[in-house]
Amino acid sequence: MEVIIKPDYQQMSAAAARQIADVLNRKPNAVLGMATGSTPLGLYRELVRLHREESLDFSQVTTFNLDEYVGLPVTHEQSYHYFMHENFFKHVNIPRQNIYIPSGTTSNFPSFCQWYEQRIQDCGGIDVQILGIGSDGHIAFNEPTSSLSSRTRLKTLAKPTIEDNARFFDNKEQVPIYAITMGVGTILEADEIVLLANGKNKAKAIAAAIEGPVTSMITASALQLHPDTRVYLDEDAAGQLQMREYYDWVLKMKPGAPKA
Ligand code: GLP
Repeated sequence: MEVIIKPDYQQMSAAAARQIADVLNRKPNAVLGMATGSTPLGLYRELVRLHREESLDFSQVTTFNLDEYVGLPVTHEQSYHYFMHENFFKHVNIPRQNIYIPSGTTSNFPSFCQWYEQRIQDCGGIDVQILGIGSDGHIAFNEPTSSLSSRTRLKTLAKPTIEDNARFFDNKEQVPIYAITMGVGTILEADEIVLLANGKNKAKAIAAAIEGPVTSMITASALQLHPDTRVYLDEDAAGQLQMREYYDWVLKMKPGAPKA
């Protein structure tokens, strides 16, 4: 795991966007794993800027989103379909048919989940997966005690997640109770993973995910088992890391590291 700590949200977002742009420049038909939530908004803004001002091309890109609420129509302002369209897809040139987001309104969840997993495989697997983290340490909607080899499936949301998300709805009762989500096992198959976190309310979850034991109680801790994860943090989210100095030292020494 590489831990990259930036002074603020803007610089954290720009550094993560640079990694995604590097993947696209290397592989123009890359498959991107997309995340929702407030955290990746700065990253999406920066990718849109790179598209507009530096011709970053998405015309051959395919995307798979991590998750979606069950029961919200795609036109609902809090659906992840709506979020992705408004904040990213409508601003870049990804062909519509290359965009995959789990369906929260399918009539057959098990077969949809199987189809979704198969589509990821058929498209060659995910080259780089973007992730945020819940305040209880979850990734996508893999709530505490999710199997670390879980696949795309229907998941009941935990109360802290419902409470965290209540701010986006008129009241807590309107927050969906179920979601469809890629599993931890699905996420771990991505070639590269980019985890982003900012703000003090993520500091505890980030410390547990990076420096704590691998446990299904903090599903983000499973990323310790992944060979190519980079974690982008702002100062606040990095506030409880014990190995902070080491992470900075690793980055500082990188350009001078002996060539293999
Ligand atoms: C939800 C999403 C996660 C996201 C998390 C944190 O639970 N399913 O993918 O990481 O919220 O959201 P935020 O970035 O708004 O803190």
